[in-house]
Amino acid sequence: MELRSLMLPPFKKIQMINADAGMTCRPFMTWSGIGSGLKLIQSLALGAATLFVFSHAAMAEEVADAEFAALQADAKESFKKGVAPFVKEYCLECHGNRRTKGGLNFEPALKNPGESSAARKWMQAFANVNAHDMPPDDSDQPLAEERQQFLESLGKIKYLSAKDPGPFVIRRLTKVEYGNTLHDLLGVDVAVARELPDEVAGQGYLNSLSPMQTEQYLGIANEVLDRIWPAAGKPPTDSQNRLLGKPPAPGADEHESAKKVARSLAGKAYRRPASEAEIGTLVGVFDLGRKNKLDYAGSLRLMLKAVLVSPQFLYITPAKDAEVGKKIVALDDYHLASRLSYLLWSTMPDAELMKLAAAGTLHQPDVLKVQVKRMLLDARSGALFDGFGAQWLGLMDLDSKTFDPKKFPQMNPELRRAMYEEARLFFDSIVRGNRSVVAFVDSDYTFLNETLAKVYGLEKEVTGAKMRKVKLTNENRGGILGMPGILATTSFPNRTSAVNRGVWVLEQVLGEHVPPAPPNVPALEKQNQKQVANLTLRQRTELHRTNAVCANCHKILDPIGFGLENFDAIGRWRDKDDTGGAIDAAGELPGGKKFSSPKELKGIIAARKDDLARNLTEKLMAYALCRQLEGYDKIVVDQLMKTIAQDGYRMQTLITEIVTSYPFLNRRVQD
Ligand code: HEC
Ligand code: HEC
Repeated sequence: MELRSLMLPPFKKIQMINADAGMTCRPFMTWSGIGSGLKLIQSLALGAATLFVFSHAAMAEEVADAEFAALQADAKESFKKGVAPFVKEYCLECHGNRRTKGGLNFEPALKNPGESSAARKWMQAFANVNAHDMPPDDSDQPLAEERQQFLESLGKIKYLSAKDPGPFVIRRLTKVEYGNTLHDLLGVDVAVARELPDEVAGQGYLNSLSPMQTEQYLGIANEVLDRIWPAAGKPPTDSQNRLLGKPPAPGADEHESAKKVARSLAGKAYRRPASEAEIGTLVGVFDLGRKNKLDYAGSLRLMLKAVLVSPQFLYITPAKDAEVGKKIVALDDYHLASRLSYLLWSTMPDAELMKLAAAGTLHQPDVLKVQVKRMLLDARSGALFDGFGAQWLGLMDLDSKTFDPKKFPQMNPELRRAMYEEARLFFDSIVRGNRSVVAFVDSDYTFLNETLAKVYGLEKEVTGAKMRKVKLTNENRGGILGMPGILATTSFPNRTSAVNRGVWVLEQVLGEHVPPAPPNVPALEKQNQKQVANLTLRQRTELHRTNAVCANCHKILDPIGFGLENFDAIGRWRDKDDTGGAIDAAGELPGGKKFSSPKELKGIIAARKDDLARNLTEKLMAYALCRQLEGYDKIVVDQLMKTIAQDGYRMQTLITEIVTSYPFLNRRVQD
């Protein structure tokens, strides 16, 4: 609901609203959706019912917050005075039960203003009323004070959301996580998962496995088993011994022995103790194998296969059932261990995390803090960049993005890889070095090898294929705004786009919501070529600002990009653009902040510490929770921001705050 200050009025129509960090990340399923996935797997696991049984030891809820209660009371009062009468007077005529213009009805939202379904409507109302777009010009207009009071009261409406950890998502392991988990569990190469399809970034995923995916998982399970299982007649392999123990002595109870194996195997593979029912299911698979004339080892192999295609392995599931009657419960410590481990490492929890989970102490904030620190220093935390960082910065598709080979012949796989590596090493240096998030925008170092140094014009200083830390003396460089990989992803194949760069900075760096371009806008290439022949790209882009309708958006988007025009489409410095005209990197942001070089633009953006930190917190939190943020989350983020700011916006603090936050530690019980 906060309006971000960069975009302050007066402007009309443009709606700069706080974006829900659109970083729903990984395949997930809702609680109710697991049934269908389950059925498919059941039939695969030879008719064995795969049951979830949860139970839960309630954890004392620590966050009964007097401050929150006061804010909530104030928000209620504000709503009564500043929102409800305003909406009744100026909006319901067109947006009520009787007439519902634009498909928008405020009556349900007036009744339950704090519900998440209302949140989106309030956000839109804020944007439209703020932009003087609503009520329409030909309707009764509110007084300026009324409008102001409405906007201020709406700013508090988040406090009407009930305390709630948000929708609970049971999510499937991503391809990367799945490969890593197979590696950690069975010692096989992560490439064994290569045949799974890649996830599409920024989207949620369907909540069950398609038959094709199920086939793929089954195929991978077979391949894994072939790799770790010895040929007939050969002695058992190491991983077989580790997982399955010694075979029972002749005459011993095979069934009991298989049960022991099932318990230890499932405890590792499910990343939590298996329930008796789950163990029973697995032993049932073993028995089935024996009935079908498989020997002891062969039947265990079948059981292991059932484990590898079970939803408990493919999804991150709670260890325990919620107490009857509870609507919200704390995550059990095993579930928490997985959530944490997949967030920071993209793989299963290690022995230390499992030990703390077994001791029931992992959820304690002090314990979590120590673990976060330990995990971030571990090499596995590189996964945070591949999973989150690259997505945040928009580098996921850099390796496949098209560039005009005539104009940019040097954009070969080697250079693209170096660009990606630069961003990774830079991200890691801030995370591991526990530096301020401001360093993302403003730093005096980067990581280069010879290939990439050419883009910087530093090929004399940096030679060889190895990436290394390089101190930068040119203040236009340093930080993500001047980073070649990022400058390249926001460009077209043959030229820069000031507009795209502006959108990128606003959305990815400052967390603004940029409304989509209207349809049917002619591309720059469609401009009258004669008329624009002598114009620089900036001048051509500026042409569309002579039209007031276009200017509403473009006067905000374009200047930021103009400030980066000295960087060409692959990030090289230039003083002239393609037409030979001198680059003019001067601009002014709404609010009157002027700049005349990338360095100065960088300074203005870096000064917006709160926005930078908030944006990163929201995006990382959405990634950690695997869902968009909503209602109560915003209040949580407000609280986190205080601590993060007090600690100088340090990256590890930001991560620790997310990991110890209410929505990370708790979950809704699905009804
Ligand atoms: C006289 C009728 C009328 C009144 C009064 C009116 N609206 Fe609208 N509103 C419309 C119509 C028609 C549309 C859909 C077409 C459009 O977007 O212009 C619309 C669309 C909207 C939208 C959706 C815009 C979008 O981005 O898709 C919002 C939000 C909105 N109105 C909010 C309000 C609020 C808040 C008020 C009261 C302050 C209000 N309107 C008063 C007629 C009205
Ligand atoms: C609601 C905001 C908004 C309005 C109004 C708007 N645009 Fe845009 N425009 C955008 C955004 C956002 C982009 C970035 C690319 C995208 O999202 O498609 C864009 C991209 C463009 C581009 C491509 C830039 C490039 O580098 O090739 C052109 C050209 C353009 N707009 C022209 C116009 C013209 C002409 C108008 C008026 C008729 C207009 N726009 C109105 C938001 C807007």
